[in-house]
Amino acid sequence: MPRIYLDANSTTPALPEVVEAMFPFFTTEFGNPSSTHLHGQHARAALDHAREQVAALLRCRASEVVLTSGGTEAANLALFGTLPPTSGAAPHLITASTEHHAVLHAAEALAARLISPVELTILPVSHNGLVSPADLEAAIQPNTRLVSIMFANNETGVLQPIADLARIAHGHGALFHTDAVQAAGKVPLDLSPAGPLRDVDLLSISGHKMYAPQGTGALFVRRGLHLAPLLHGGPHERQRRAGTENLPGYVGLGRAADLAQRWLTEDHPNDGPTHLAVLRSNLEHQLLAQIPGGRINSRSATRIPNTTSLTLPGIDAEALLIALDLQGLSCSAGSACQSGATEPSHVLRAMHLTDADARATIRLSLSRFTTPTEIDRVLDLIPATVTRLRALAPRLAHA
Ligand SMILES: Cc1ncc(COP(=O)(O)O)c(C=O)c1O
Repeated sequence: MPRIYLDANSTTPALPEVVEAMFPFFTTEFGNPSSTHLHGQHARAALDHAREQVAALLRCRASEVVLTSGGTEAANLALFGTLPPTSGAAPHLITASTEHHAVLHAAEALAARLISPVELTILPVSHNGLVSPADLEAAIQPNTRLVSIMFANNETGVLQPIADLARIAHGHGALFHTDAVQAAGKVPLDLSPAGPLRDVDLLSISGHKMYAPQGTGALFVRRGLHLAPLLHGGPHERQRRAGTENLPGYVGLGRAADLAQRWLTEDHPNDGPTHLAVLRSNLEHQLLAQIPGGRINSRSATRIPNTTSLTLPGIDAEALLIALDLQGLSCSAGSACQSGATEPSHVLRAMHLTDADARATIRLSLSRFTTPTEIDRVLDLIPATVTRLRALAPRLAHA
């Protein structure tokens, strides 16, 4: 029986159209976009086109897109680029406790910097994982330079009120960055000057979460904002990121952005965000109906349409994942970066789950390829496996 992949928040396969678009750029169209000869010109044209495709997905200008090696680099560039060492008073950075480590660890590194360390505030979240606009308002200080709050959480899928949060930051003269790695390609993003995200100054995306290859990504940098580069060298990316571009990768990212845009706007009964949301909703209803004590985290909040965070009290998530893997289902506990780690997820802990419940939580993240038949099979597998594991450890189950 073919395996089922419900771990799309960890990574997605590159779409066939993406691979097809990339292929010539490994072979015949191998030029360096910085070369002035014809090979270089072809490469430059392809790079420009890819950048325009990414800009179209984000509804911004092509010149506002800095291509990067992924979401981690984009987030680091946003944070380090807007908070370079200064000779004046320490700048203040605000972020939230449920951020991905790409932001949290970058923020901690800035706070631990020997020269000009930043003052760091980490906002709490509600039991649903939401940052309160009032908390942000109260945390802003005269020296707040940057607020960085993620668009959609990788573990629960919860969507933050980004437009409101960005407006508050701007109202106090601070910049606003959002890590939109889990949102891009799943929900519309509109960074146009009159659009809902007009107060967002910086936004990070990652190729491999939206059906482009791993090792590609982008940072949106609003026009007029100066960014100190992380990488020094040539004048690539308008002096914002030195180094010869990953041309095949960016061609793939551009094509994937183009396909994502269509997927978001041409919502068909059997393919599109609504279809995905219906599949996820059926999955959740049935799981809750069949598993006593099961809970879905952030269920009453607005979420991206593909993510389910399921707490199964009394179950060791790692044991469940292994049992499911052996039966042909790939899913994860919290974020992929934490697999194998013994610490419970910082996201779930920040949402006030106990350590035991955080360790009893799995994440199911559907992809555009997930079918109703696969969901039916998952609904056979998970409840039966949970019942078996609970029978093996009855004392734990009632703990
Ligand atoms: C919310 C979020 N931000 C950032 C990243 C890092 O992106 P990348 O893997 O492209 O470095 C991830 C990856 O899991 C993510 O889920």
